[in-house]
Amino acid sequence: MDVHSYSRPSQVRARHLDLDLNVNFDRKVLEGSVEIHFDTLSAGDLLLDTRGLTIHSVEHADSFELGPADPALGAPLRIVTAVDTDWVRVYYSTSPSASGLQWLDAPQTAGREHPFLYTQSQAIHARSWIPLQDTPGVRVTFTAKIHTPEGLRAVMGAASEDGQFRMEQPVPSYLIALAVGDLGFRGLGPRSGVYAEPSLLDAAAHEFADTEAMIAAVEAMYGPYRWGRYDLLVLPPSFPFGGMENPRLTFTTPTILAGDRSLVSLVAHELAHSWSGNLVTNATWSDFWLNEGFTVYLERRILEKVYGTARAEMEAVLGRRELDREMAGLPESDRVLHIDLNGRDPDEGCTLVPYEKGALLLRTIERSVGRERFDAFLKAYFDHFAFQSITTAQFLEYLRAHLETDVPLEEWITQPGIPAGAAEPQSDAFDRIDSPDRTGWSTQQWLHFLRTRKDPDMADLDRAFQFTASGNSEILAQWLLMAVQRNYQPAMPKVEQFLTSVGRRKFLKPLYAELMKTPEGRRRAIDIYEKARPGYHPIAQGTIDAMVK
Ligand code: BES
Ligand code: ZN
Repeated sequence: MDVHSYSRPSQVRARHLDLDLNVNFDRKVLEGSVEIHFDTLSAGDLLLDTRGLTIHSVEHADSFELGPADPALGAPLRIVTAVDTDWVRVYYSTSPSASGLQWLDAPQTAGREHPFLYTQSQAIHARSWIPLQDTPGVRVTFTAKIHTPEGLRAVMGAASEDGQFRMEQPVPSYLIALAVGDLGFRGLGPRSGVYAEPSLLDAAAHEFADTEAMIAAVEAMYGPYRWGRYDLLVLPPSFPFGGMENPRLTFTTPTILAGDRSLVSLVAHELAHSWSGNLVTNATWSDFWLNEGFTVYLERRILEKVYGTARAEMEAVLGRRELDREMAGLPESDRVLHIDLNGRDPDEGCTLVPYEKGALLLRTIERSVGRERFDAFLKAYFDHFAFQSITTAQFLEYLRAHLETDVPLEEWITQPGIPAGAAEPQSDAFDRIDSPDRTGWSTQQWLHFLRTRKDPDMADLDRAFQFTASGNSEILAQWLLMAVQRNYQPAMPKVEQFLTSVGRRKFLKPLYAELMKTPEGRRRAIDIYEKARPGYHPIAQGTIDAMVK
């Protein structure tokens, strides 16, 4: 039972979608149809999720009715069909303010010549661009015809063949993805490549050169990559996330193009979702830690294999410290892995708890049973539940049947905070951070250095290390946060420039929050946000609207 969907998949369950959509940049709408093929398991109407959709007609149905809209869930679409029917076709159009779409004008792209559109369906935004059973407990195959203006290319998280897209592996709705823009392509390896605006292609191909090695690393540990190709798509800077694991086509922020491959843990992360998340999927958003905790664990295992233990441990320590920092500000009920999201927007569960506490639990189990047994267990787990959506209870049952461990699982999953006996990460490279020799320092060391300054002399640090001019988005975001905290005036123009050019929520949230703490900062935040808001994604607008006022 998914509290974030009106659908009743135990009665009627969608199996396949066939999309036919026109991309209208002038009116900023998608319009067309979706044919839904379904199984009727027991008596009941077909109930679909929608948000802000206009339903024009439903073919092959007796009647249809759009119910009242809930602010978080959208509106249910009830379709009544003849008894032996197994398909309907819904004709619809989206709203220009659809929460799952961002329509960018040409000036918001790198090339500044063509408009851009992309979708972001997780967690419950697919319903704002397709009427469907929008729950991760239902998986569908799909085909799609996308009609775009002359000169613009459509890409989807799907295979592309003779003018249409096809996804043969069943996927949950939150993984259905589309982007349209002036896109070029560069191959990276035999089954991987990158799509980006032409001016970014060289930089992207250079940054992601280790992708093939990462795929091989996961396969060696956890079994074959089951999705055919693995490509990346570099989005414009307003993309509200770091990355999104759309199957066959990871969406990424351009802010990870640092030039030195120092931020590619994000590629490892999104690639890892091809096993944890896309293959074995959280059945509800309360089970989100099954997606993200497993993925962070796999991400660090990939980093270890491709870049060595020191790098993986630095990332683990950084994550562990950020977890503590964030958890301190969360209510106890949000410090648990299996979270109660009834009556809440599932986005509210997207804290570092499912990510870092989840990964720490797996690390702790690994230490308790030994790496060899744990890897064999995980490999079998991905195989056993492949292409299924599962609950935390199902994971626990499977774990108890296959591994003997003294880790207090129940406590980890249902109690707030970090239980005693956690496998705490430790980094020698960080322990040496106060030595004056900083030659060859990694981005991770710089981040740790900045985060552990007690009473930094900002001007002094800036003079020595030019942080205000850093071209590394993670280092810059950390530095600008400290600049706001300490009211370091020389960095303020950069704060404004950063907030008006980047829409990645992870960077925006702490910066606006820090600004809002003083009257002067608040004035600055309001002023900056007024300029920046039109360029942000609807999801980021929602987040910052609630903070800046
Ligand atoms: N699946 C998430 C992004 C997401 C989560 C979108 C919940 C909407 C709702 C993706 O895999 C992710 O975790 N991205 C992180 C980066 C990662 C390296 C921690 C991000 O965007 O910051
Ligand atoms: Zn993730």
